[in-house]
Amino acid sequence: MDVFEAIQGRRSPSRFEPHPVPREMLERVLDAAMWAPSPQDMQNWHFVVLGGQEKDTFVTATQVEFTDLLLSLQNSGPWTSAQRTNWFIKAAYEAPVLVLAFSDTPASLVPDAPLAVAAAVQNLLLAAHAEGLAGRWFTAGLQTVSDIVARHIPVGEMELVGLIVLGYPAETPTPSPRREKRIDWRISF
Ligand SMILES: Cc1cc2nc3c(=O)[nH]c(=O)nc-3n(C[C@H](O)[C@H](O)[C@H](O)COP(=O)(O)O)c2cc1C
Repeated sequence: MDVFEAIQGRRSPSRFEPHPVPREMLERVLDAAMWAPSPQDMQNWHFVVLGGQEKDTFVTATQVEFTDLLLSLQNSGPWTSAQRTNWFIKAAYEAPVLVLAFSDTPASLVPDAPLAVAAAVQNLLLAAHAEGLAGRWFTAGLQTVSDIVARHIPVGEMELVGLIVLGYPAETPTPSPRREKRIDWRISF
């Protein structure tokens, strides 16, 4: 698959098959993430990959806290955040792998540090697609989610940038049309 095909074919499914993902496949996907660009070549990403029993334990242990987050968003937060959280709770149960993406450098120190992690996550998603897998980022209620994660997984001073649900897609969503006029060409040919 060439890079343009991967970029245009990658989608964020809502539903995942429960089948496990081979370890070597996951290693290739995570290795692709390592090749992202970063400010001053900081390579400040750090990924925690949860699968099998470890994923199940995390999802079960955090169920109450995620449900509380969902309820608080339904009561007072933006409707879309509640929707996105509701989706995550279901997908995290279904999919075989959950990837937690951190920056080892605080944004207060290096404001563009999270951007490098985002670039690495995009690499990961493209590589996953090339392997026949799919992933979906989750950032709704990120501050609360960071607190939930920190209570269950020791991460020291690292900052959570997002969670990625990963596995074999159980659906291929129709891509939304891309917005027009997002490029201002100022080139004389
Ligand atoms: C930074 C970022 C955060 C996202 N957060 C969420 C989320 O919290 N919940 C969710 O369901 N999808 C989330 N998504 C997935 C988007 O909804 C999805 O990328 C978008 O609908 C476009 O679909 P596509 O990825 O299939 O092109 C996020 C995507 C990005 C890039």
